[in-house]
Amino acid sequence: MPQHAPTGLSRSEAYEQSQDIGINPSGNDTIADVINHRYHRRDVLKGLLAGTAIAGLGTAGIGVALGDQAQAQTAAPRFTFTEISHGVDRTHHVAPGYDADILIRWGDAVAPDAPAFDPQRQTAAAQLKQFGYNNDFIGYLPLPMGSTNSNRGLLFINHEYTNEEVMFPGIGRQDVKDKLFKDMTRNLVEIEMAAHGASIIEIERSEAGKWAVVAGSRYARRIDGGTTMMELTGPAAGHARMKTKADPSGARVAGMLNNCAGGITPWGTVLTAEENFHGYFWGKMEAGHPEERNHKRYEVPGNWYNWGQYFERFDVTKEPNEANRFGWMVEVDPYDPQFVPKKRTALGRCKHEGAAVIVNSDGRVVLYSGDDERFEYVYRFVSARRYNANDRRANLGLLDEGILSVAKYNADGSVDWLPLVFGQGPLTTANGFSSQADVLIETRRAADLLGATKMDRPEDIEINPVTGKVYVMLTNNSRRKADQLDAANTRAANEWGQVLEMTPPGGDHAAQKAGWSLLVQGGNPADPKTGAKFHPQTSRNGWFACPDNAAVDPQGRLWITTDQGEAWEKASGTADGVWALETEGPNRGLGKMFFRVPVGAEMCGPCFTPDGRTFFVAVQHPATDGGEKFTSSGKGSTFEDPATRWPDFQPGMPPRPSVVVITKRDGGLVGS
Ligand code: FEO
Ligand code: CA
Ligand code: CA
Ligand code: CA
Repeated sequence: MPQHAPTGLSRSEAYEQSQDIGINPSGNDTIADVINHRYHRRDVLKGLLAGTAIAGLGTAGIGVALGDQAQAQTAAPRFTFTEISHGVDRTHHVAPGYDADILIRWGDAVAPDAPAFDPQRQTAAAQLKQFGYNNDFIGYLPLPMGSTNSNRGLLFINHEYTNEEVMFPGIGRQDVKDKLFKDMTRNLVEIEMAAHGASIIEIERSEAGKWAVVAGSRYARRIDGGTTMMELTGPAAGHARMKTKADPSGARVAGMLNNCAGGITPWGTVLTAEENFHGYFWGKMEAGHPEERNHKRYEVPGNWYNWGQYFERFDVTKEPNEANRFGWMVEVDPYDPQFVPKKRTALGRCKHEGAAVIVNSDGRVVLYSGDDERFEYVYRFVSARRYNANDRRANLGLLDEGILSVAKYNADGSVDWLPLVFGQGPLTTANGFSSQADVLIETRRAADLLGATKMDRPEDIEINPVTGKVYVMLTNNSRRKADQLDAANTRAANEWGQVLEMTPPGGDHAAQKAGWSLLVQGGNPADPKTGAKFHPQTSRNGWFACPDNAAVDPQGRLWITTDQGEAWEKASGTADGVWALETEGPNRGLGKMFFRVPVGAEMCGPCFTPDGRTFFVAVQHPATDGGEKFTSSGKGSTFEDPATRWPDFQPGMPPRPSVVVITKRDGGLVGS
């Protein structure tokens, strides 16, 4: 039975919302504690939030203090598009002068022999050849490999999870209390498994400027949640805690689950992040079992899907080690259709949101990743070996060896990167760690012991390769305590989130310390009780709540997408969307709304082609979140009565998560 089932939500909606709850039992400081220590109330009122310079670290010290009217100077804005409005309706909206076309929808062909989508007669076999559900991360990889071709390439798209109430006819809303899994037959479970994972498609832009999927491409591939064989690599591969009845090697696992965001490596592979893996595990842990403490720290078993009813490995009572084989970062080479995906255990195990990768000035590869749950942490990995631009094969092993660290955000505006290395500090046998494999399998507990900073749900992290700064999306955290707040910034129940900026010293991403500051605080700046902070010239449509994913375009400008979940009406009153956000100079903190999703959807996957003239976004779970006012029944969406039938708007056709491709009608740079 789900532990944290809010009322009125379907099972899948409640599952998504449950990531907000937070289970971190450690006494470590939260980011709210740190912000309060660092910025006393009077300083915040004076608007010093982003202006505090940290001596010696080369950090922010950026001219504009957010919310400071005196600093509201004008400078040439870097985004010149005409802003759209906050709002909500059944379809999507983009800035004037742009086209926003559907590229591929749930059920469309991926494999050359995929059958036509028939929502009334779905099968797992068909779904395994068709585009999966809930598209999230999008990665563009130019063709040929190594080029910067912006007119032909591969798209790698994650399929994070499924919403059965709007996917399957005749089952209604699987209420978490009354009808738990009653209608979720083995056949539907197999379709769900097939709808998870990822799709690789080839796409091409025509002379007329329109993008289309290349039918019959030799690169076309579905990776799924239940059957695609993957290899576990790195220090935890083959460890006794990774072995199961089906895999005595502890190094081979079928499927990847809840792949949310991701990243592209400098050698042209994709990193796809397993996020809320706990929900697929079922049953009850035996008291006193050696994995009991470990599983509890990740909320395993989450019992949000009934896969364990039909597949023993998802039942923790029968296969207690299977959950240790999920929660990893998975590397895939989209240029090689035969590539066996690799779960890179050196990168740690958590509810990874995504990955941001860069070649550091010394040639080592640095990767940032957030663990998306309230009060969880921000991680960084530094490879032991150096990137070799002339040896792609060697680069494919770079993420198996190196140092994983966790962030401690200090009140003086510095970040300490604390290494998660077996034998160092508290990570010893005295605390139950016998090897680096143990440290990685129990990444969260190791980070607790090191005193990492508990954050407001770290979602996507993006590196700006032009400036070297690193942006961390902190989505929200309604459990921030009242005694951590002040009268002017009443962010008790922080429904709005914030964007944190990190500045590596001298551009060295591998340094033990970095600087940090806040870029914006989400919410309505005109409503003082939100404590929102944007540039004072931000319009009534330019502010946002709940930053989730981000992208930096080729000009080095930041774009942010939001996920307010069920709370969108309360958090902002607008549907989710894409906002452009100024980061430098006098306009720092100025937001501008560019795109809006249909009712109930979340905005994911922002991704640019190398020329900056095409912008891909993923509309996830249309019709689901808070769509009651748009259904005939006035209740939550179902297959038969959804809040929207976007994007087809055909009778009997359910809403379909889809990738949208945005181009400027004059062929120019997106956003300019
Ligand atoms: Fe899958 Fe953290 O969003
Ligand atoms: Ca996300
Ligand atoms: Ca999300
Ligand atoms: Ca979602």
